Amino acid sequence: MNKFDLISIFPEYFEPLELSLIGKAKKSGLVDISVHNLRDQADDNHHTVDDTPYGGGAGMVMLPEPWGAAIDAIASNVDQIYDLIVLTPAGEKFSQSMAEELALCDNLIFACGRYEGIDIRVTDFYRTQKNFRVREISIGDYVLNGGEVATLVIMEAIIRLIPGVIGNPASLEEESHSLRDENGSLVEYPSYTKPANWRGLEVPPVLLSGNHGEIARWRAEAASARTAELRNRTRE
Ligand code: ADE
Repeated sequence: MNKFDLISIFPEYFEPLELSLIGKAKKSGLVDISVHNLRDQADDNHHTVDDTPYGGGAGMVMLPEPWGAAIDAIASNVDQIYDLIVLTPAGEKFSQSMAEELALCDNLIFACGRYEGIDIRVTDFYRTQKNFRVREISIGDYVLNGGEVATLVIMEAIIRLIPGVIGNPASLEEESHSLRDENGSLVEYPSYTKPANWRGLEVPPVLLSGNHGEIARWRAEAASARTAELRNRTRE
């Protein structure tokens, strides 16, 4: 079973994991999710988790001690491999193929930093540990206040790939970003449902034709047109 351990100073951020498909997957035992409060590992009365940066500069940096203690407490089984995910805008960009890789990992630890981030020696240290794989991941080129929302995004993308979580697994096969060509991932064809005419907008007649070959051809063309348009718009 996939185990997720989340470390944060705001455990309440993860309450939405009780909802919808992830909530159901959790209740039926398909995934095991534990949330840990970093402040429980702080060793002073004020539960301090940050300090000023060496070398000066704005903001605060998270102390390595509580992070090390929190990660060690989770990763107590020396026979297991732990994938430590550190959320940071300086990380590798998250993608569908990364979600597919992470869905195969047994023990995922998400380190949700705040402020100016976590003292880099935490990542440096766990990279030297033979039962750890460390990945710094960003969900996009913008800055969030912390890694919690990024963790929710990544977990949702992973957990829906776990067998049994989505009622109809066929829906995973053709969806956006699960197929690729030589230029990157493809997006899905547009979908329509009833009514056939909504505010004067008609459903393409081929979709009402019952001709499965024609429908498949139309969808393949619509998907590649949509992909081309998207690539045009997002070209830097
Ligand atoms: N923490 C702050 N910004 C982030 C981002 N874009 N992705 C992941 N973690 C973050």
